[in-house]
Amino acid sequence: MAEPGLMEKIVSLSKRRGFIFPGSEIYGGLAGTFDYGPMGVLLKENIQRLWLTLFRDTRDDMYSVDAAILMNPKVWESSGHIAGFSDPLVECGNPKCKRRFRADDGTVELIAADDGEVKWVCPHCGWENVHAKVRQFNMMFKTHAGAMEDESAVVYLRPETAGGIFVNYKNVMDSLHPRLPFGIAQIGKAFRNEIAPREFIFRLRELTQMEVEYFVKPTEWETAFEAWRLTMHAYADALGLPKDAVHELEVPAEDRAHYSMRTVDFEFDYPFGRKELWGLAYRTDFDLSAHQNGSGVSLEYLDEETKQKFIPHVIEPSLGVDRTLLAVLASAYREDELGGETRTYLALSPRIAPVKAMVSPLLKNKPELVAKAREVYAALKKEVPQIAWDDNGNIGKRYRRQDEIGTPFCLTIDFDTLGEKPERKDTVTLRDRDSGNQERLSIAEAIARVKEAAG
Ligand code: GAP
Repeated sequence: MAEPGLMEKIVSLSKRRGFIFPGSEIYGGLAGTFDYGPMGVLLKENIQRLWLTLFRDTRDDMYSVDAAILMNPKVWESSGHIAGFSDPLVECGNPKCKRRFRADDGTVELIAADDGEVKWVCPHCGWENVHAKVRQFNMMFKTHAGAMEDESAVVYLRPETAGGIFVNYKNVMDSLHPRLPFGIAQIGKAFRNEIAPREFIFRLRELTQMEVEYFVKPTEWETAFEAWRLTMHAYADALGLPKDAVHELEVPAEDRAHYSMRTVDFEFDYPFGRKELWGLAYRTDFDLSAHQNGSGVSLEYLDEETKQKFIPHVIEPSLGVDRTLLAVLASAYREDELGGETRTYLALSPRIAPVKAMVSPLLKNKPELVAKAREVYAALKKEVPQIAWDDNGNIGKRYRRQDEIGTPFCLTIDFDTLGEKPERKDTVTLRDRDSGNQERLSIAEAIARVKEAAG
């Protein structure tokens, strides 16, 4: 059961500590957009880095592309997005309201009439809509390329990064000649004109995806599907998501995207309920066949052994970075009592924590302490670049600030470090974020401890 108010606390901490800000905030914001601040950028990069490690770098069969966001509109015609990438929508008939709602997510209760029309009550103004129609609303953002603003210049902001991978399949084949099975990975922005963006960074209009299109022989799709399913669980574990908060949902045929023969959604217990985190789909040869037909360019693969030509089939693990980051924050958020005070901390895995350690002189106004702390800071930074320096306020306040951004360790340099107690010369205290306990270690041991945990 989700803790009441947890979402509000996460949103507040995200702003207070520089993780996530509302988009264009000084102008009143823009619905469905958020900006990542200094800590958010580091956390996002670490989440993406871990994905690259598990999904690309520890394998021998993966390649990367970084495709343009604006693509020839024929791409989206062939892929079926112009015809079918839409959500059902109802619009309130009250001339003073005119608000639009998704018709399939339970926000409004639709009562179907025999003539195909619906009745519903507007949750905003209470207007009773009778003889109302459900319309399909295409979610792709449209713009114009070049100086003309007519239909011939229409282009779309990509609604999924996958499109940029499919159109580069032939380029990767021709330049690197990989054999099946192999995959292409891409991290990048995608855009969806969501009718109702909501739940902070859960449903956005501008989002970041981490996608793999993995090309296989048609007979080998099930083996590949299973292997990627396990990789997705391994990634969830590496991120520190609790096993019992991640669930698989076998998506029934009627709810699957038009290109998918099998989809497993990975759902997460967010503070606002169980919702989709990632998706794993078997896209068959739908996309490459559609792009072959649409472009007139052959996308067939020649099997050197059998001399047969065929269109490869595709397994697609598709992960949203923003939803991942929200799941990470929700899993890591903690409140406890330490030293008689309530404190908040993020129990982030050291591998993804934005800052791995903070280095601090016990007192700011003692030059000899500051000089020694600067020395320790420089030595640690050589080994672990993502560290912080803090000499502001008392040491307790500094620890609290680091707890709130999830810094796993704090190293404090005190008079013992300088040799006030000779047997403690060149030692520091290493404070553990979760327990608040402090250990006395040599500088070298403390550095090694941080380095090992940061991974
Ligand atoms: N290429 C397949 C594809 O895009 P999808 O299920 O529509 O499939 C994949 O999206 C993932 O992208 C989702 O599982 C989710 O993590 C993320 N995602 C989709 N729409 C989103 C939105 N409006 N805001 C934030 N993340 C979103």
